[in-house]
Amino acid sequence: TDQYAVFGNPINHSKSPAIHRQFAEQTGQDLHYAKQLVAEDEFVKTVQAFFAQGGKGLNVTIPFKVEAFGFAQELTPRAQRAGAVNVLALQTDGKILGDNTDGIGMVHDMHNLDWEIQGKRVLILGAGGAVRGILQPLLAEHPIQVVIANRTLSKAEELVAEFHDLGDVKASSFEQLAGEKFDLIINGTSTSLSGDLPPLPADLLNPNAYCYDLMYGAEPTVFLKWALENGAAKIADGLGMLVGQAAEAFYLWRHIRPEVVPVITALRRQLS
Ligand code: ATR
Repeated sequence: TDQYAVFGNPINHSKSPAIHRQFAEQTGQDLHYAKQLVAEDEFVKTVQAFFAQGGKGLNVTIPFKVEAFGFAQELTPRAQRAGAVNVLALQTDGKILGDNTDGIGMVHDMHNLDWEIQGKRVLILGAGGAVRGILQPLLAEHPIQVVIANRTLSKAEELVAEFHDLGDVKASSFEQLAGEKFDLIINGTSTSLSGDLPPLPADLLNPNAYCYDLMYGAEPTVFLKWALENGAAKIADGLGMLVGQAAEAFYLWRHIRPEVVPVITALRRQLS
């Protein structure tokens, strides 16, 4: 039985073992997937021990994604762009490949929801690690423009400098959003955790606009409540992205694509 695991700190509430168990069952794959709490200063040591003992692949979560980026011997282009790795995979040549499947997980979730990205004007709130992880797969969908608005403007400007070769990307403060209109807003700030909301003008949304939060929970996030109150046609939280990133990791490891919808449905039921 091939061994897989997710490493993080904290790790107790990780849904990854439940997700991958369902994928394995669906696809008839013989594998074991564990979760492991790793001490902050023992990431590399623990990863080395895992692969030395015959482990085949890892998911990596907070706070180790940048360290995993440094550890990987080869990187996919999207991981290179993200500067962070959430999947490590042992390859046939013995080398460890690092990938970042967060962004493609989000894009696939939007496809599943029938949300068009191509030709749309997109606003991203936030400019931290989560946003860096989604920019390349998002821009690959050919939105007409992506505006990155952040409390600290310089961080948005840094992302623009790094990603502008992939499409029309522009930085903004929250104040500068006054009078702007968008078809899709993605909340990539960590404000949902604290129940806060960035200061947003009320009239940001075009008719038929969609709002997506990278965070998820039993209740709509503060941002998604704002979206409904301000005319969003559709909203979604990041539960589908979580399952989507896992599906892409599963594909990298097992070369077989699991069905995400039944897994999202099962997780959603457990949340409430
Ligand atoms: P993550 O890895 O989740 O992206 P991060 O890299 O710390 O975490 O980024 C958090 C993001 O949420 C940043 O864009 C941050 O804005 P700053 O760059 O100005 O710090 C944003 N954020 C956090 N709290 C916020 C708040 N109360 N209002 C607005 N933005 C906030």
